[in-house]
Amino acid sequence: MTGKKIQTSGAEPKPVKSARGMDPEIAVTPLADVALADPPRVSRRFFLNVAFAALASYAIGIEPEQLTLRRVEIPLLDLPEALDGLRIGQLSDLHRCPVMPRWRVEQAISLMADASPDLVTLTGDYVSYWPDYAAEYPELLASLKPRLGCFACTGNHDHWTDPDVVTDALREADVIVLRNRHQIIPVGGAQLCIVGIDDVGLAGISMHHANPADDLPAALAGSPLSGVTRLLLAHNPDFVMEPVFAQETTQRPIHLVLSGHTHGGQVRLPVLGAPFLPSRHGQLFGGGLVQAADTHVYVSRGVGSSLPVRFNCPPEISVLTLRRA
Ligand SMILES: [Fe+2]
Repeated sequence: MTGKKIQTSGAEPKPVKSARGMDPEIAVTPLADVALADPPRVSRRFFLNVAFAALASYAIGIEPEQLTLRRVEIPLLDLPEALDGLRIGQLSDLHRCPVMPRWRVEQAISLMADASPDLVTLTGDYVSYWPDYAAEYPELLASLKPRLGCFACTGNHDHWTDPDVVTDALREADVIVLRNRHQIIPVGGAQLCIVGIDDVGLAGISMHHANPADDLPAALAGSPLSGVTRLLLAHNPDFVMEPVFAQETTQRPIHLVLSGHTHGGQVRLPVLGAPFLPSRHGQLFGGGLVQAADTHVYVSRGVGSSLPVRFNCPPEISVLTLRRA
């Protein structure tokens, strides 16, 4: 039987014609009065957690493997014509260790070999945690044969492990390791003086040196006062701000310094820069070419690290071309 009204208490609901007009006696509650269930709400905390997890995954799993080749032209005053256009490769902070797999070191060296610069510089931190990894370098560097040779200095991680083991391994790979000494190489009619120092400020930290390992006076001793273009390999760019640098370079100017160490801070925030940069000079040595202490300093962001996190600061190898200013 149809059309029977349900008896309710209180006010009688007014019959409303259905949308189709099929059954005028069925009461239809207006949509506005229907109590809908609350839609699922995404809390702010949940959103932040997801965003943080995504950023962390990128910073740990993706960006550390985004190796880039940076090509930079460096204008130098009084550069001899024979050195105009000289291409210097830089590999820094390879950091072979449990969190820096061998394939990433191989990739960086292979990319450098393909870029075929005139000479290659290696600016420290070849291993982290254990010196045993140094034994891999003769094989790793075998493909690197620039026409003017490979030159290296040591870094703080090499001193924290074993700088002598690292040095021996590099020498076995035909790398000229400049530990507080220099080497002059003729290029055309010009002379390039490559100077290397051990890492700065290791007193009380290094397991192998009771005193700071850097010795610029010893590294420069006997080099010509003029007539050479001087290139300094100094792992830590802070070294150029040390009083000894100003003292020694008044007589023997250094035209270009190549450094690493800071890794660009590894995490760089827009506008703010790197929250943590291992330098006593703010953001000055956060990466790239800077003028400091009356010289040019190129700071590589490095290839690896002992903590595999990078954000807005991808790893790099560099090819620097000298130009007459
Ligand atoms: Fe490093």
